[in-house]
Amino acid sequence: MSVIVVVGSQWGDEGKGKIVDLISESVDVVVRYQGGANAGHTIFVNNKKFVLHLIPSGIVRNNILCIIGNGVVLDPTAFFEELEFLEDNKIKTSNRILILPNTHLVLPFHKVIDKLNEQGNDKIGTTGRGIGPAYTDKYYRLGIRAIDLFNDDYLINILKRNLAIKNSLAKSYYEVNEFSFESTLNYLFEIRNKLKEYIVKDSTIVSRLLEEGKKILLEGAQGALLDVDHGTYPFVTSSNPTIGGAITGTGIPSKRISEIIGVTKAYCTRVGDGPFPTELNNEMGDHIREYGNEYGATTGRPRRCGWLDLPALKYSAKINGFDSLAITKLDVLSQLDKISICTAYKLNGEIIDYFPIDTTTLYNVEPVYKEFEGWGTSIQGLRKIEQLPANARKYLEFIEENIKVKIKIISTGFERNDTIII
Ligand code: IMP
Repeated sequence: MSVIVVVGSQWGDEGKGKIVDLISESVDVVVRYQGGANAGHTIFVNNKKFVLHLIPSGIVRNNILCIIGNGVVLDPTAFFEELEFLEDNKIKTSNRILILPNTHLVLPFHKVIDKLNEQGNDKIGTTGRGIGPAYTDKYYRLGIRAIDLFNDDYLINILKRNLAIKNSLAKSYYEVNEFSFESTLNYLFEIRNKLKEYIVKDSTIVSRLLEEGKKILLEGAQGALLDVDHGTYPFVTSSNPTIGGAITGTGIPSKRISEIIGVTKAYCTRVGDGPFPTELNNEMGDHIREYGNEYGATTGRPRRCGWLDLPALKYSAKINGFDSLAITKLDVLSQLDKISICTAYKLNGEIIDYFPIDTTTLYNVEPVYKEFEGWGTSIQGLRKIEQLPANARKYLEFIEENIKVKIKIISTGFERNDTIII
């Protein structure tokens, strides 16, 4: 195995951090391929909790090199805060983190614009971390990349052009004070000295490390249903958490990918607005939220909770080509007498055999459920498949049979080793 990709198969928050941490035991390099400080990857090691937003989850293991891929939008302020948090928690970061030169930066005005965009009725429910505005600048070809920090003429020119447009909008559309060129430039000068040691010159370093025989893990953020191309647009993030993003966001040739793991929570959650067919707006939803501690790792927002959605998961498996699934948070369902899985969607009374990509349709589908008996006992921390109660195994087998992808990892608790590996 040379390149493993870990992809979220739902609306994010599937528990990718734990799975990346687990698998990274056998890799040399972990590369984050998209998203930014909107992510919150949680890892528990010996009862200690680490929440990572930007730095790859491999950082909590001492021997791993961590790379921030060009598909990421990097907020320097959030990056330095995270470094400080890690150092405070006795995680060595020096000489272990690299930033690709073509990684775009999230600047203070991106965060302001993100929040301004969210003030109206038609909000997306973003994390407010400036992600959408930073990716917009990237595609507008007015973004500032890590490497641009070292080319003064270019930097000044692009910032002037960028702010000319932003400030026209600030005045006429947002009706706020203009963004200051001087203070933004000062911010860029200030952070470039601190970022310098992390930024590499060679944008193909991930491929180079692969050629040198290093084992590489590509870590996705968010999930397939939040993908800007394949997700529930416009209620999506602005990047590609799906497999294509792993390739463009790191510079790895697609044929070198040896395994794609879809991380799937045993039920569904969603944070922010947008359609969610299996959402439980009732006591059951509240129960899952409390037992699963379903509150945003980045924003603290309560997550919307619902049953596992197989039509959505099938769709996700199809567009990503999962080789295996890692099922997380199965233990959260242990308290329940009955557990449902959505097996199909009905639209106007008829079963449909596709995942509707337009939001209006998705708001109107009616989930068809199959009910399962609960297993009536705690499975917290189990480490062998034989120890799982028969009803829990039936639940998992049903998922496997329907998605036609093998489950290779089952997480039974938040600690690193609370895991069944098949
Ligand atoms: P943005 O990525 O901050 O622009 O937010 C766009 C949408 O993606 C919103 O619904 C967010 O709640 C959601 N989102 C962004 N990052 C995450 C994440 O890491 N987990 C779950 N949802 C996320």
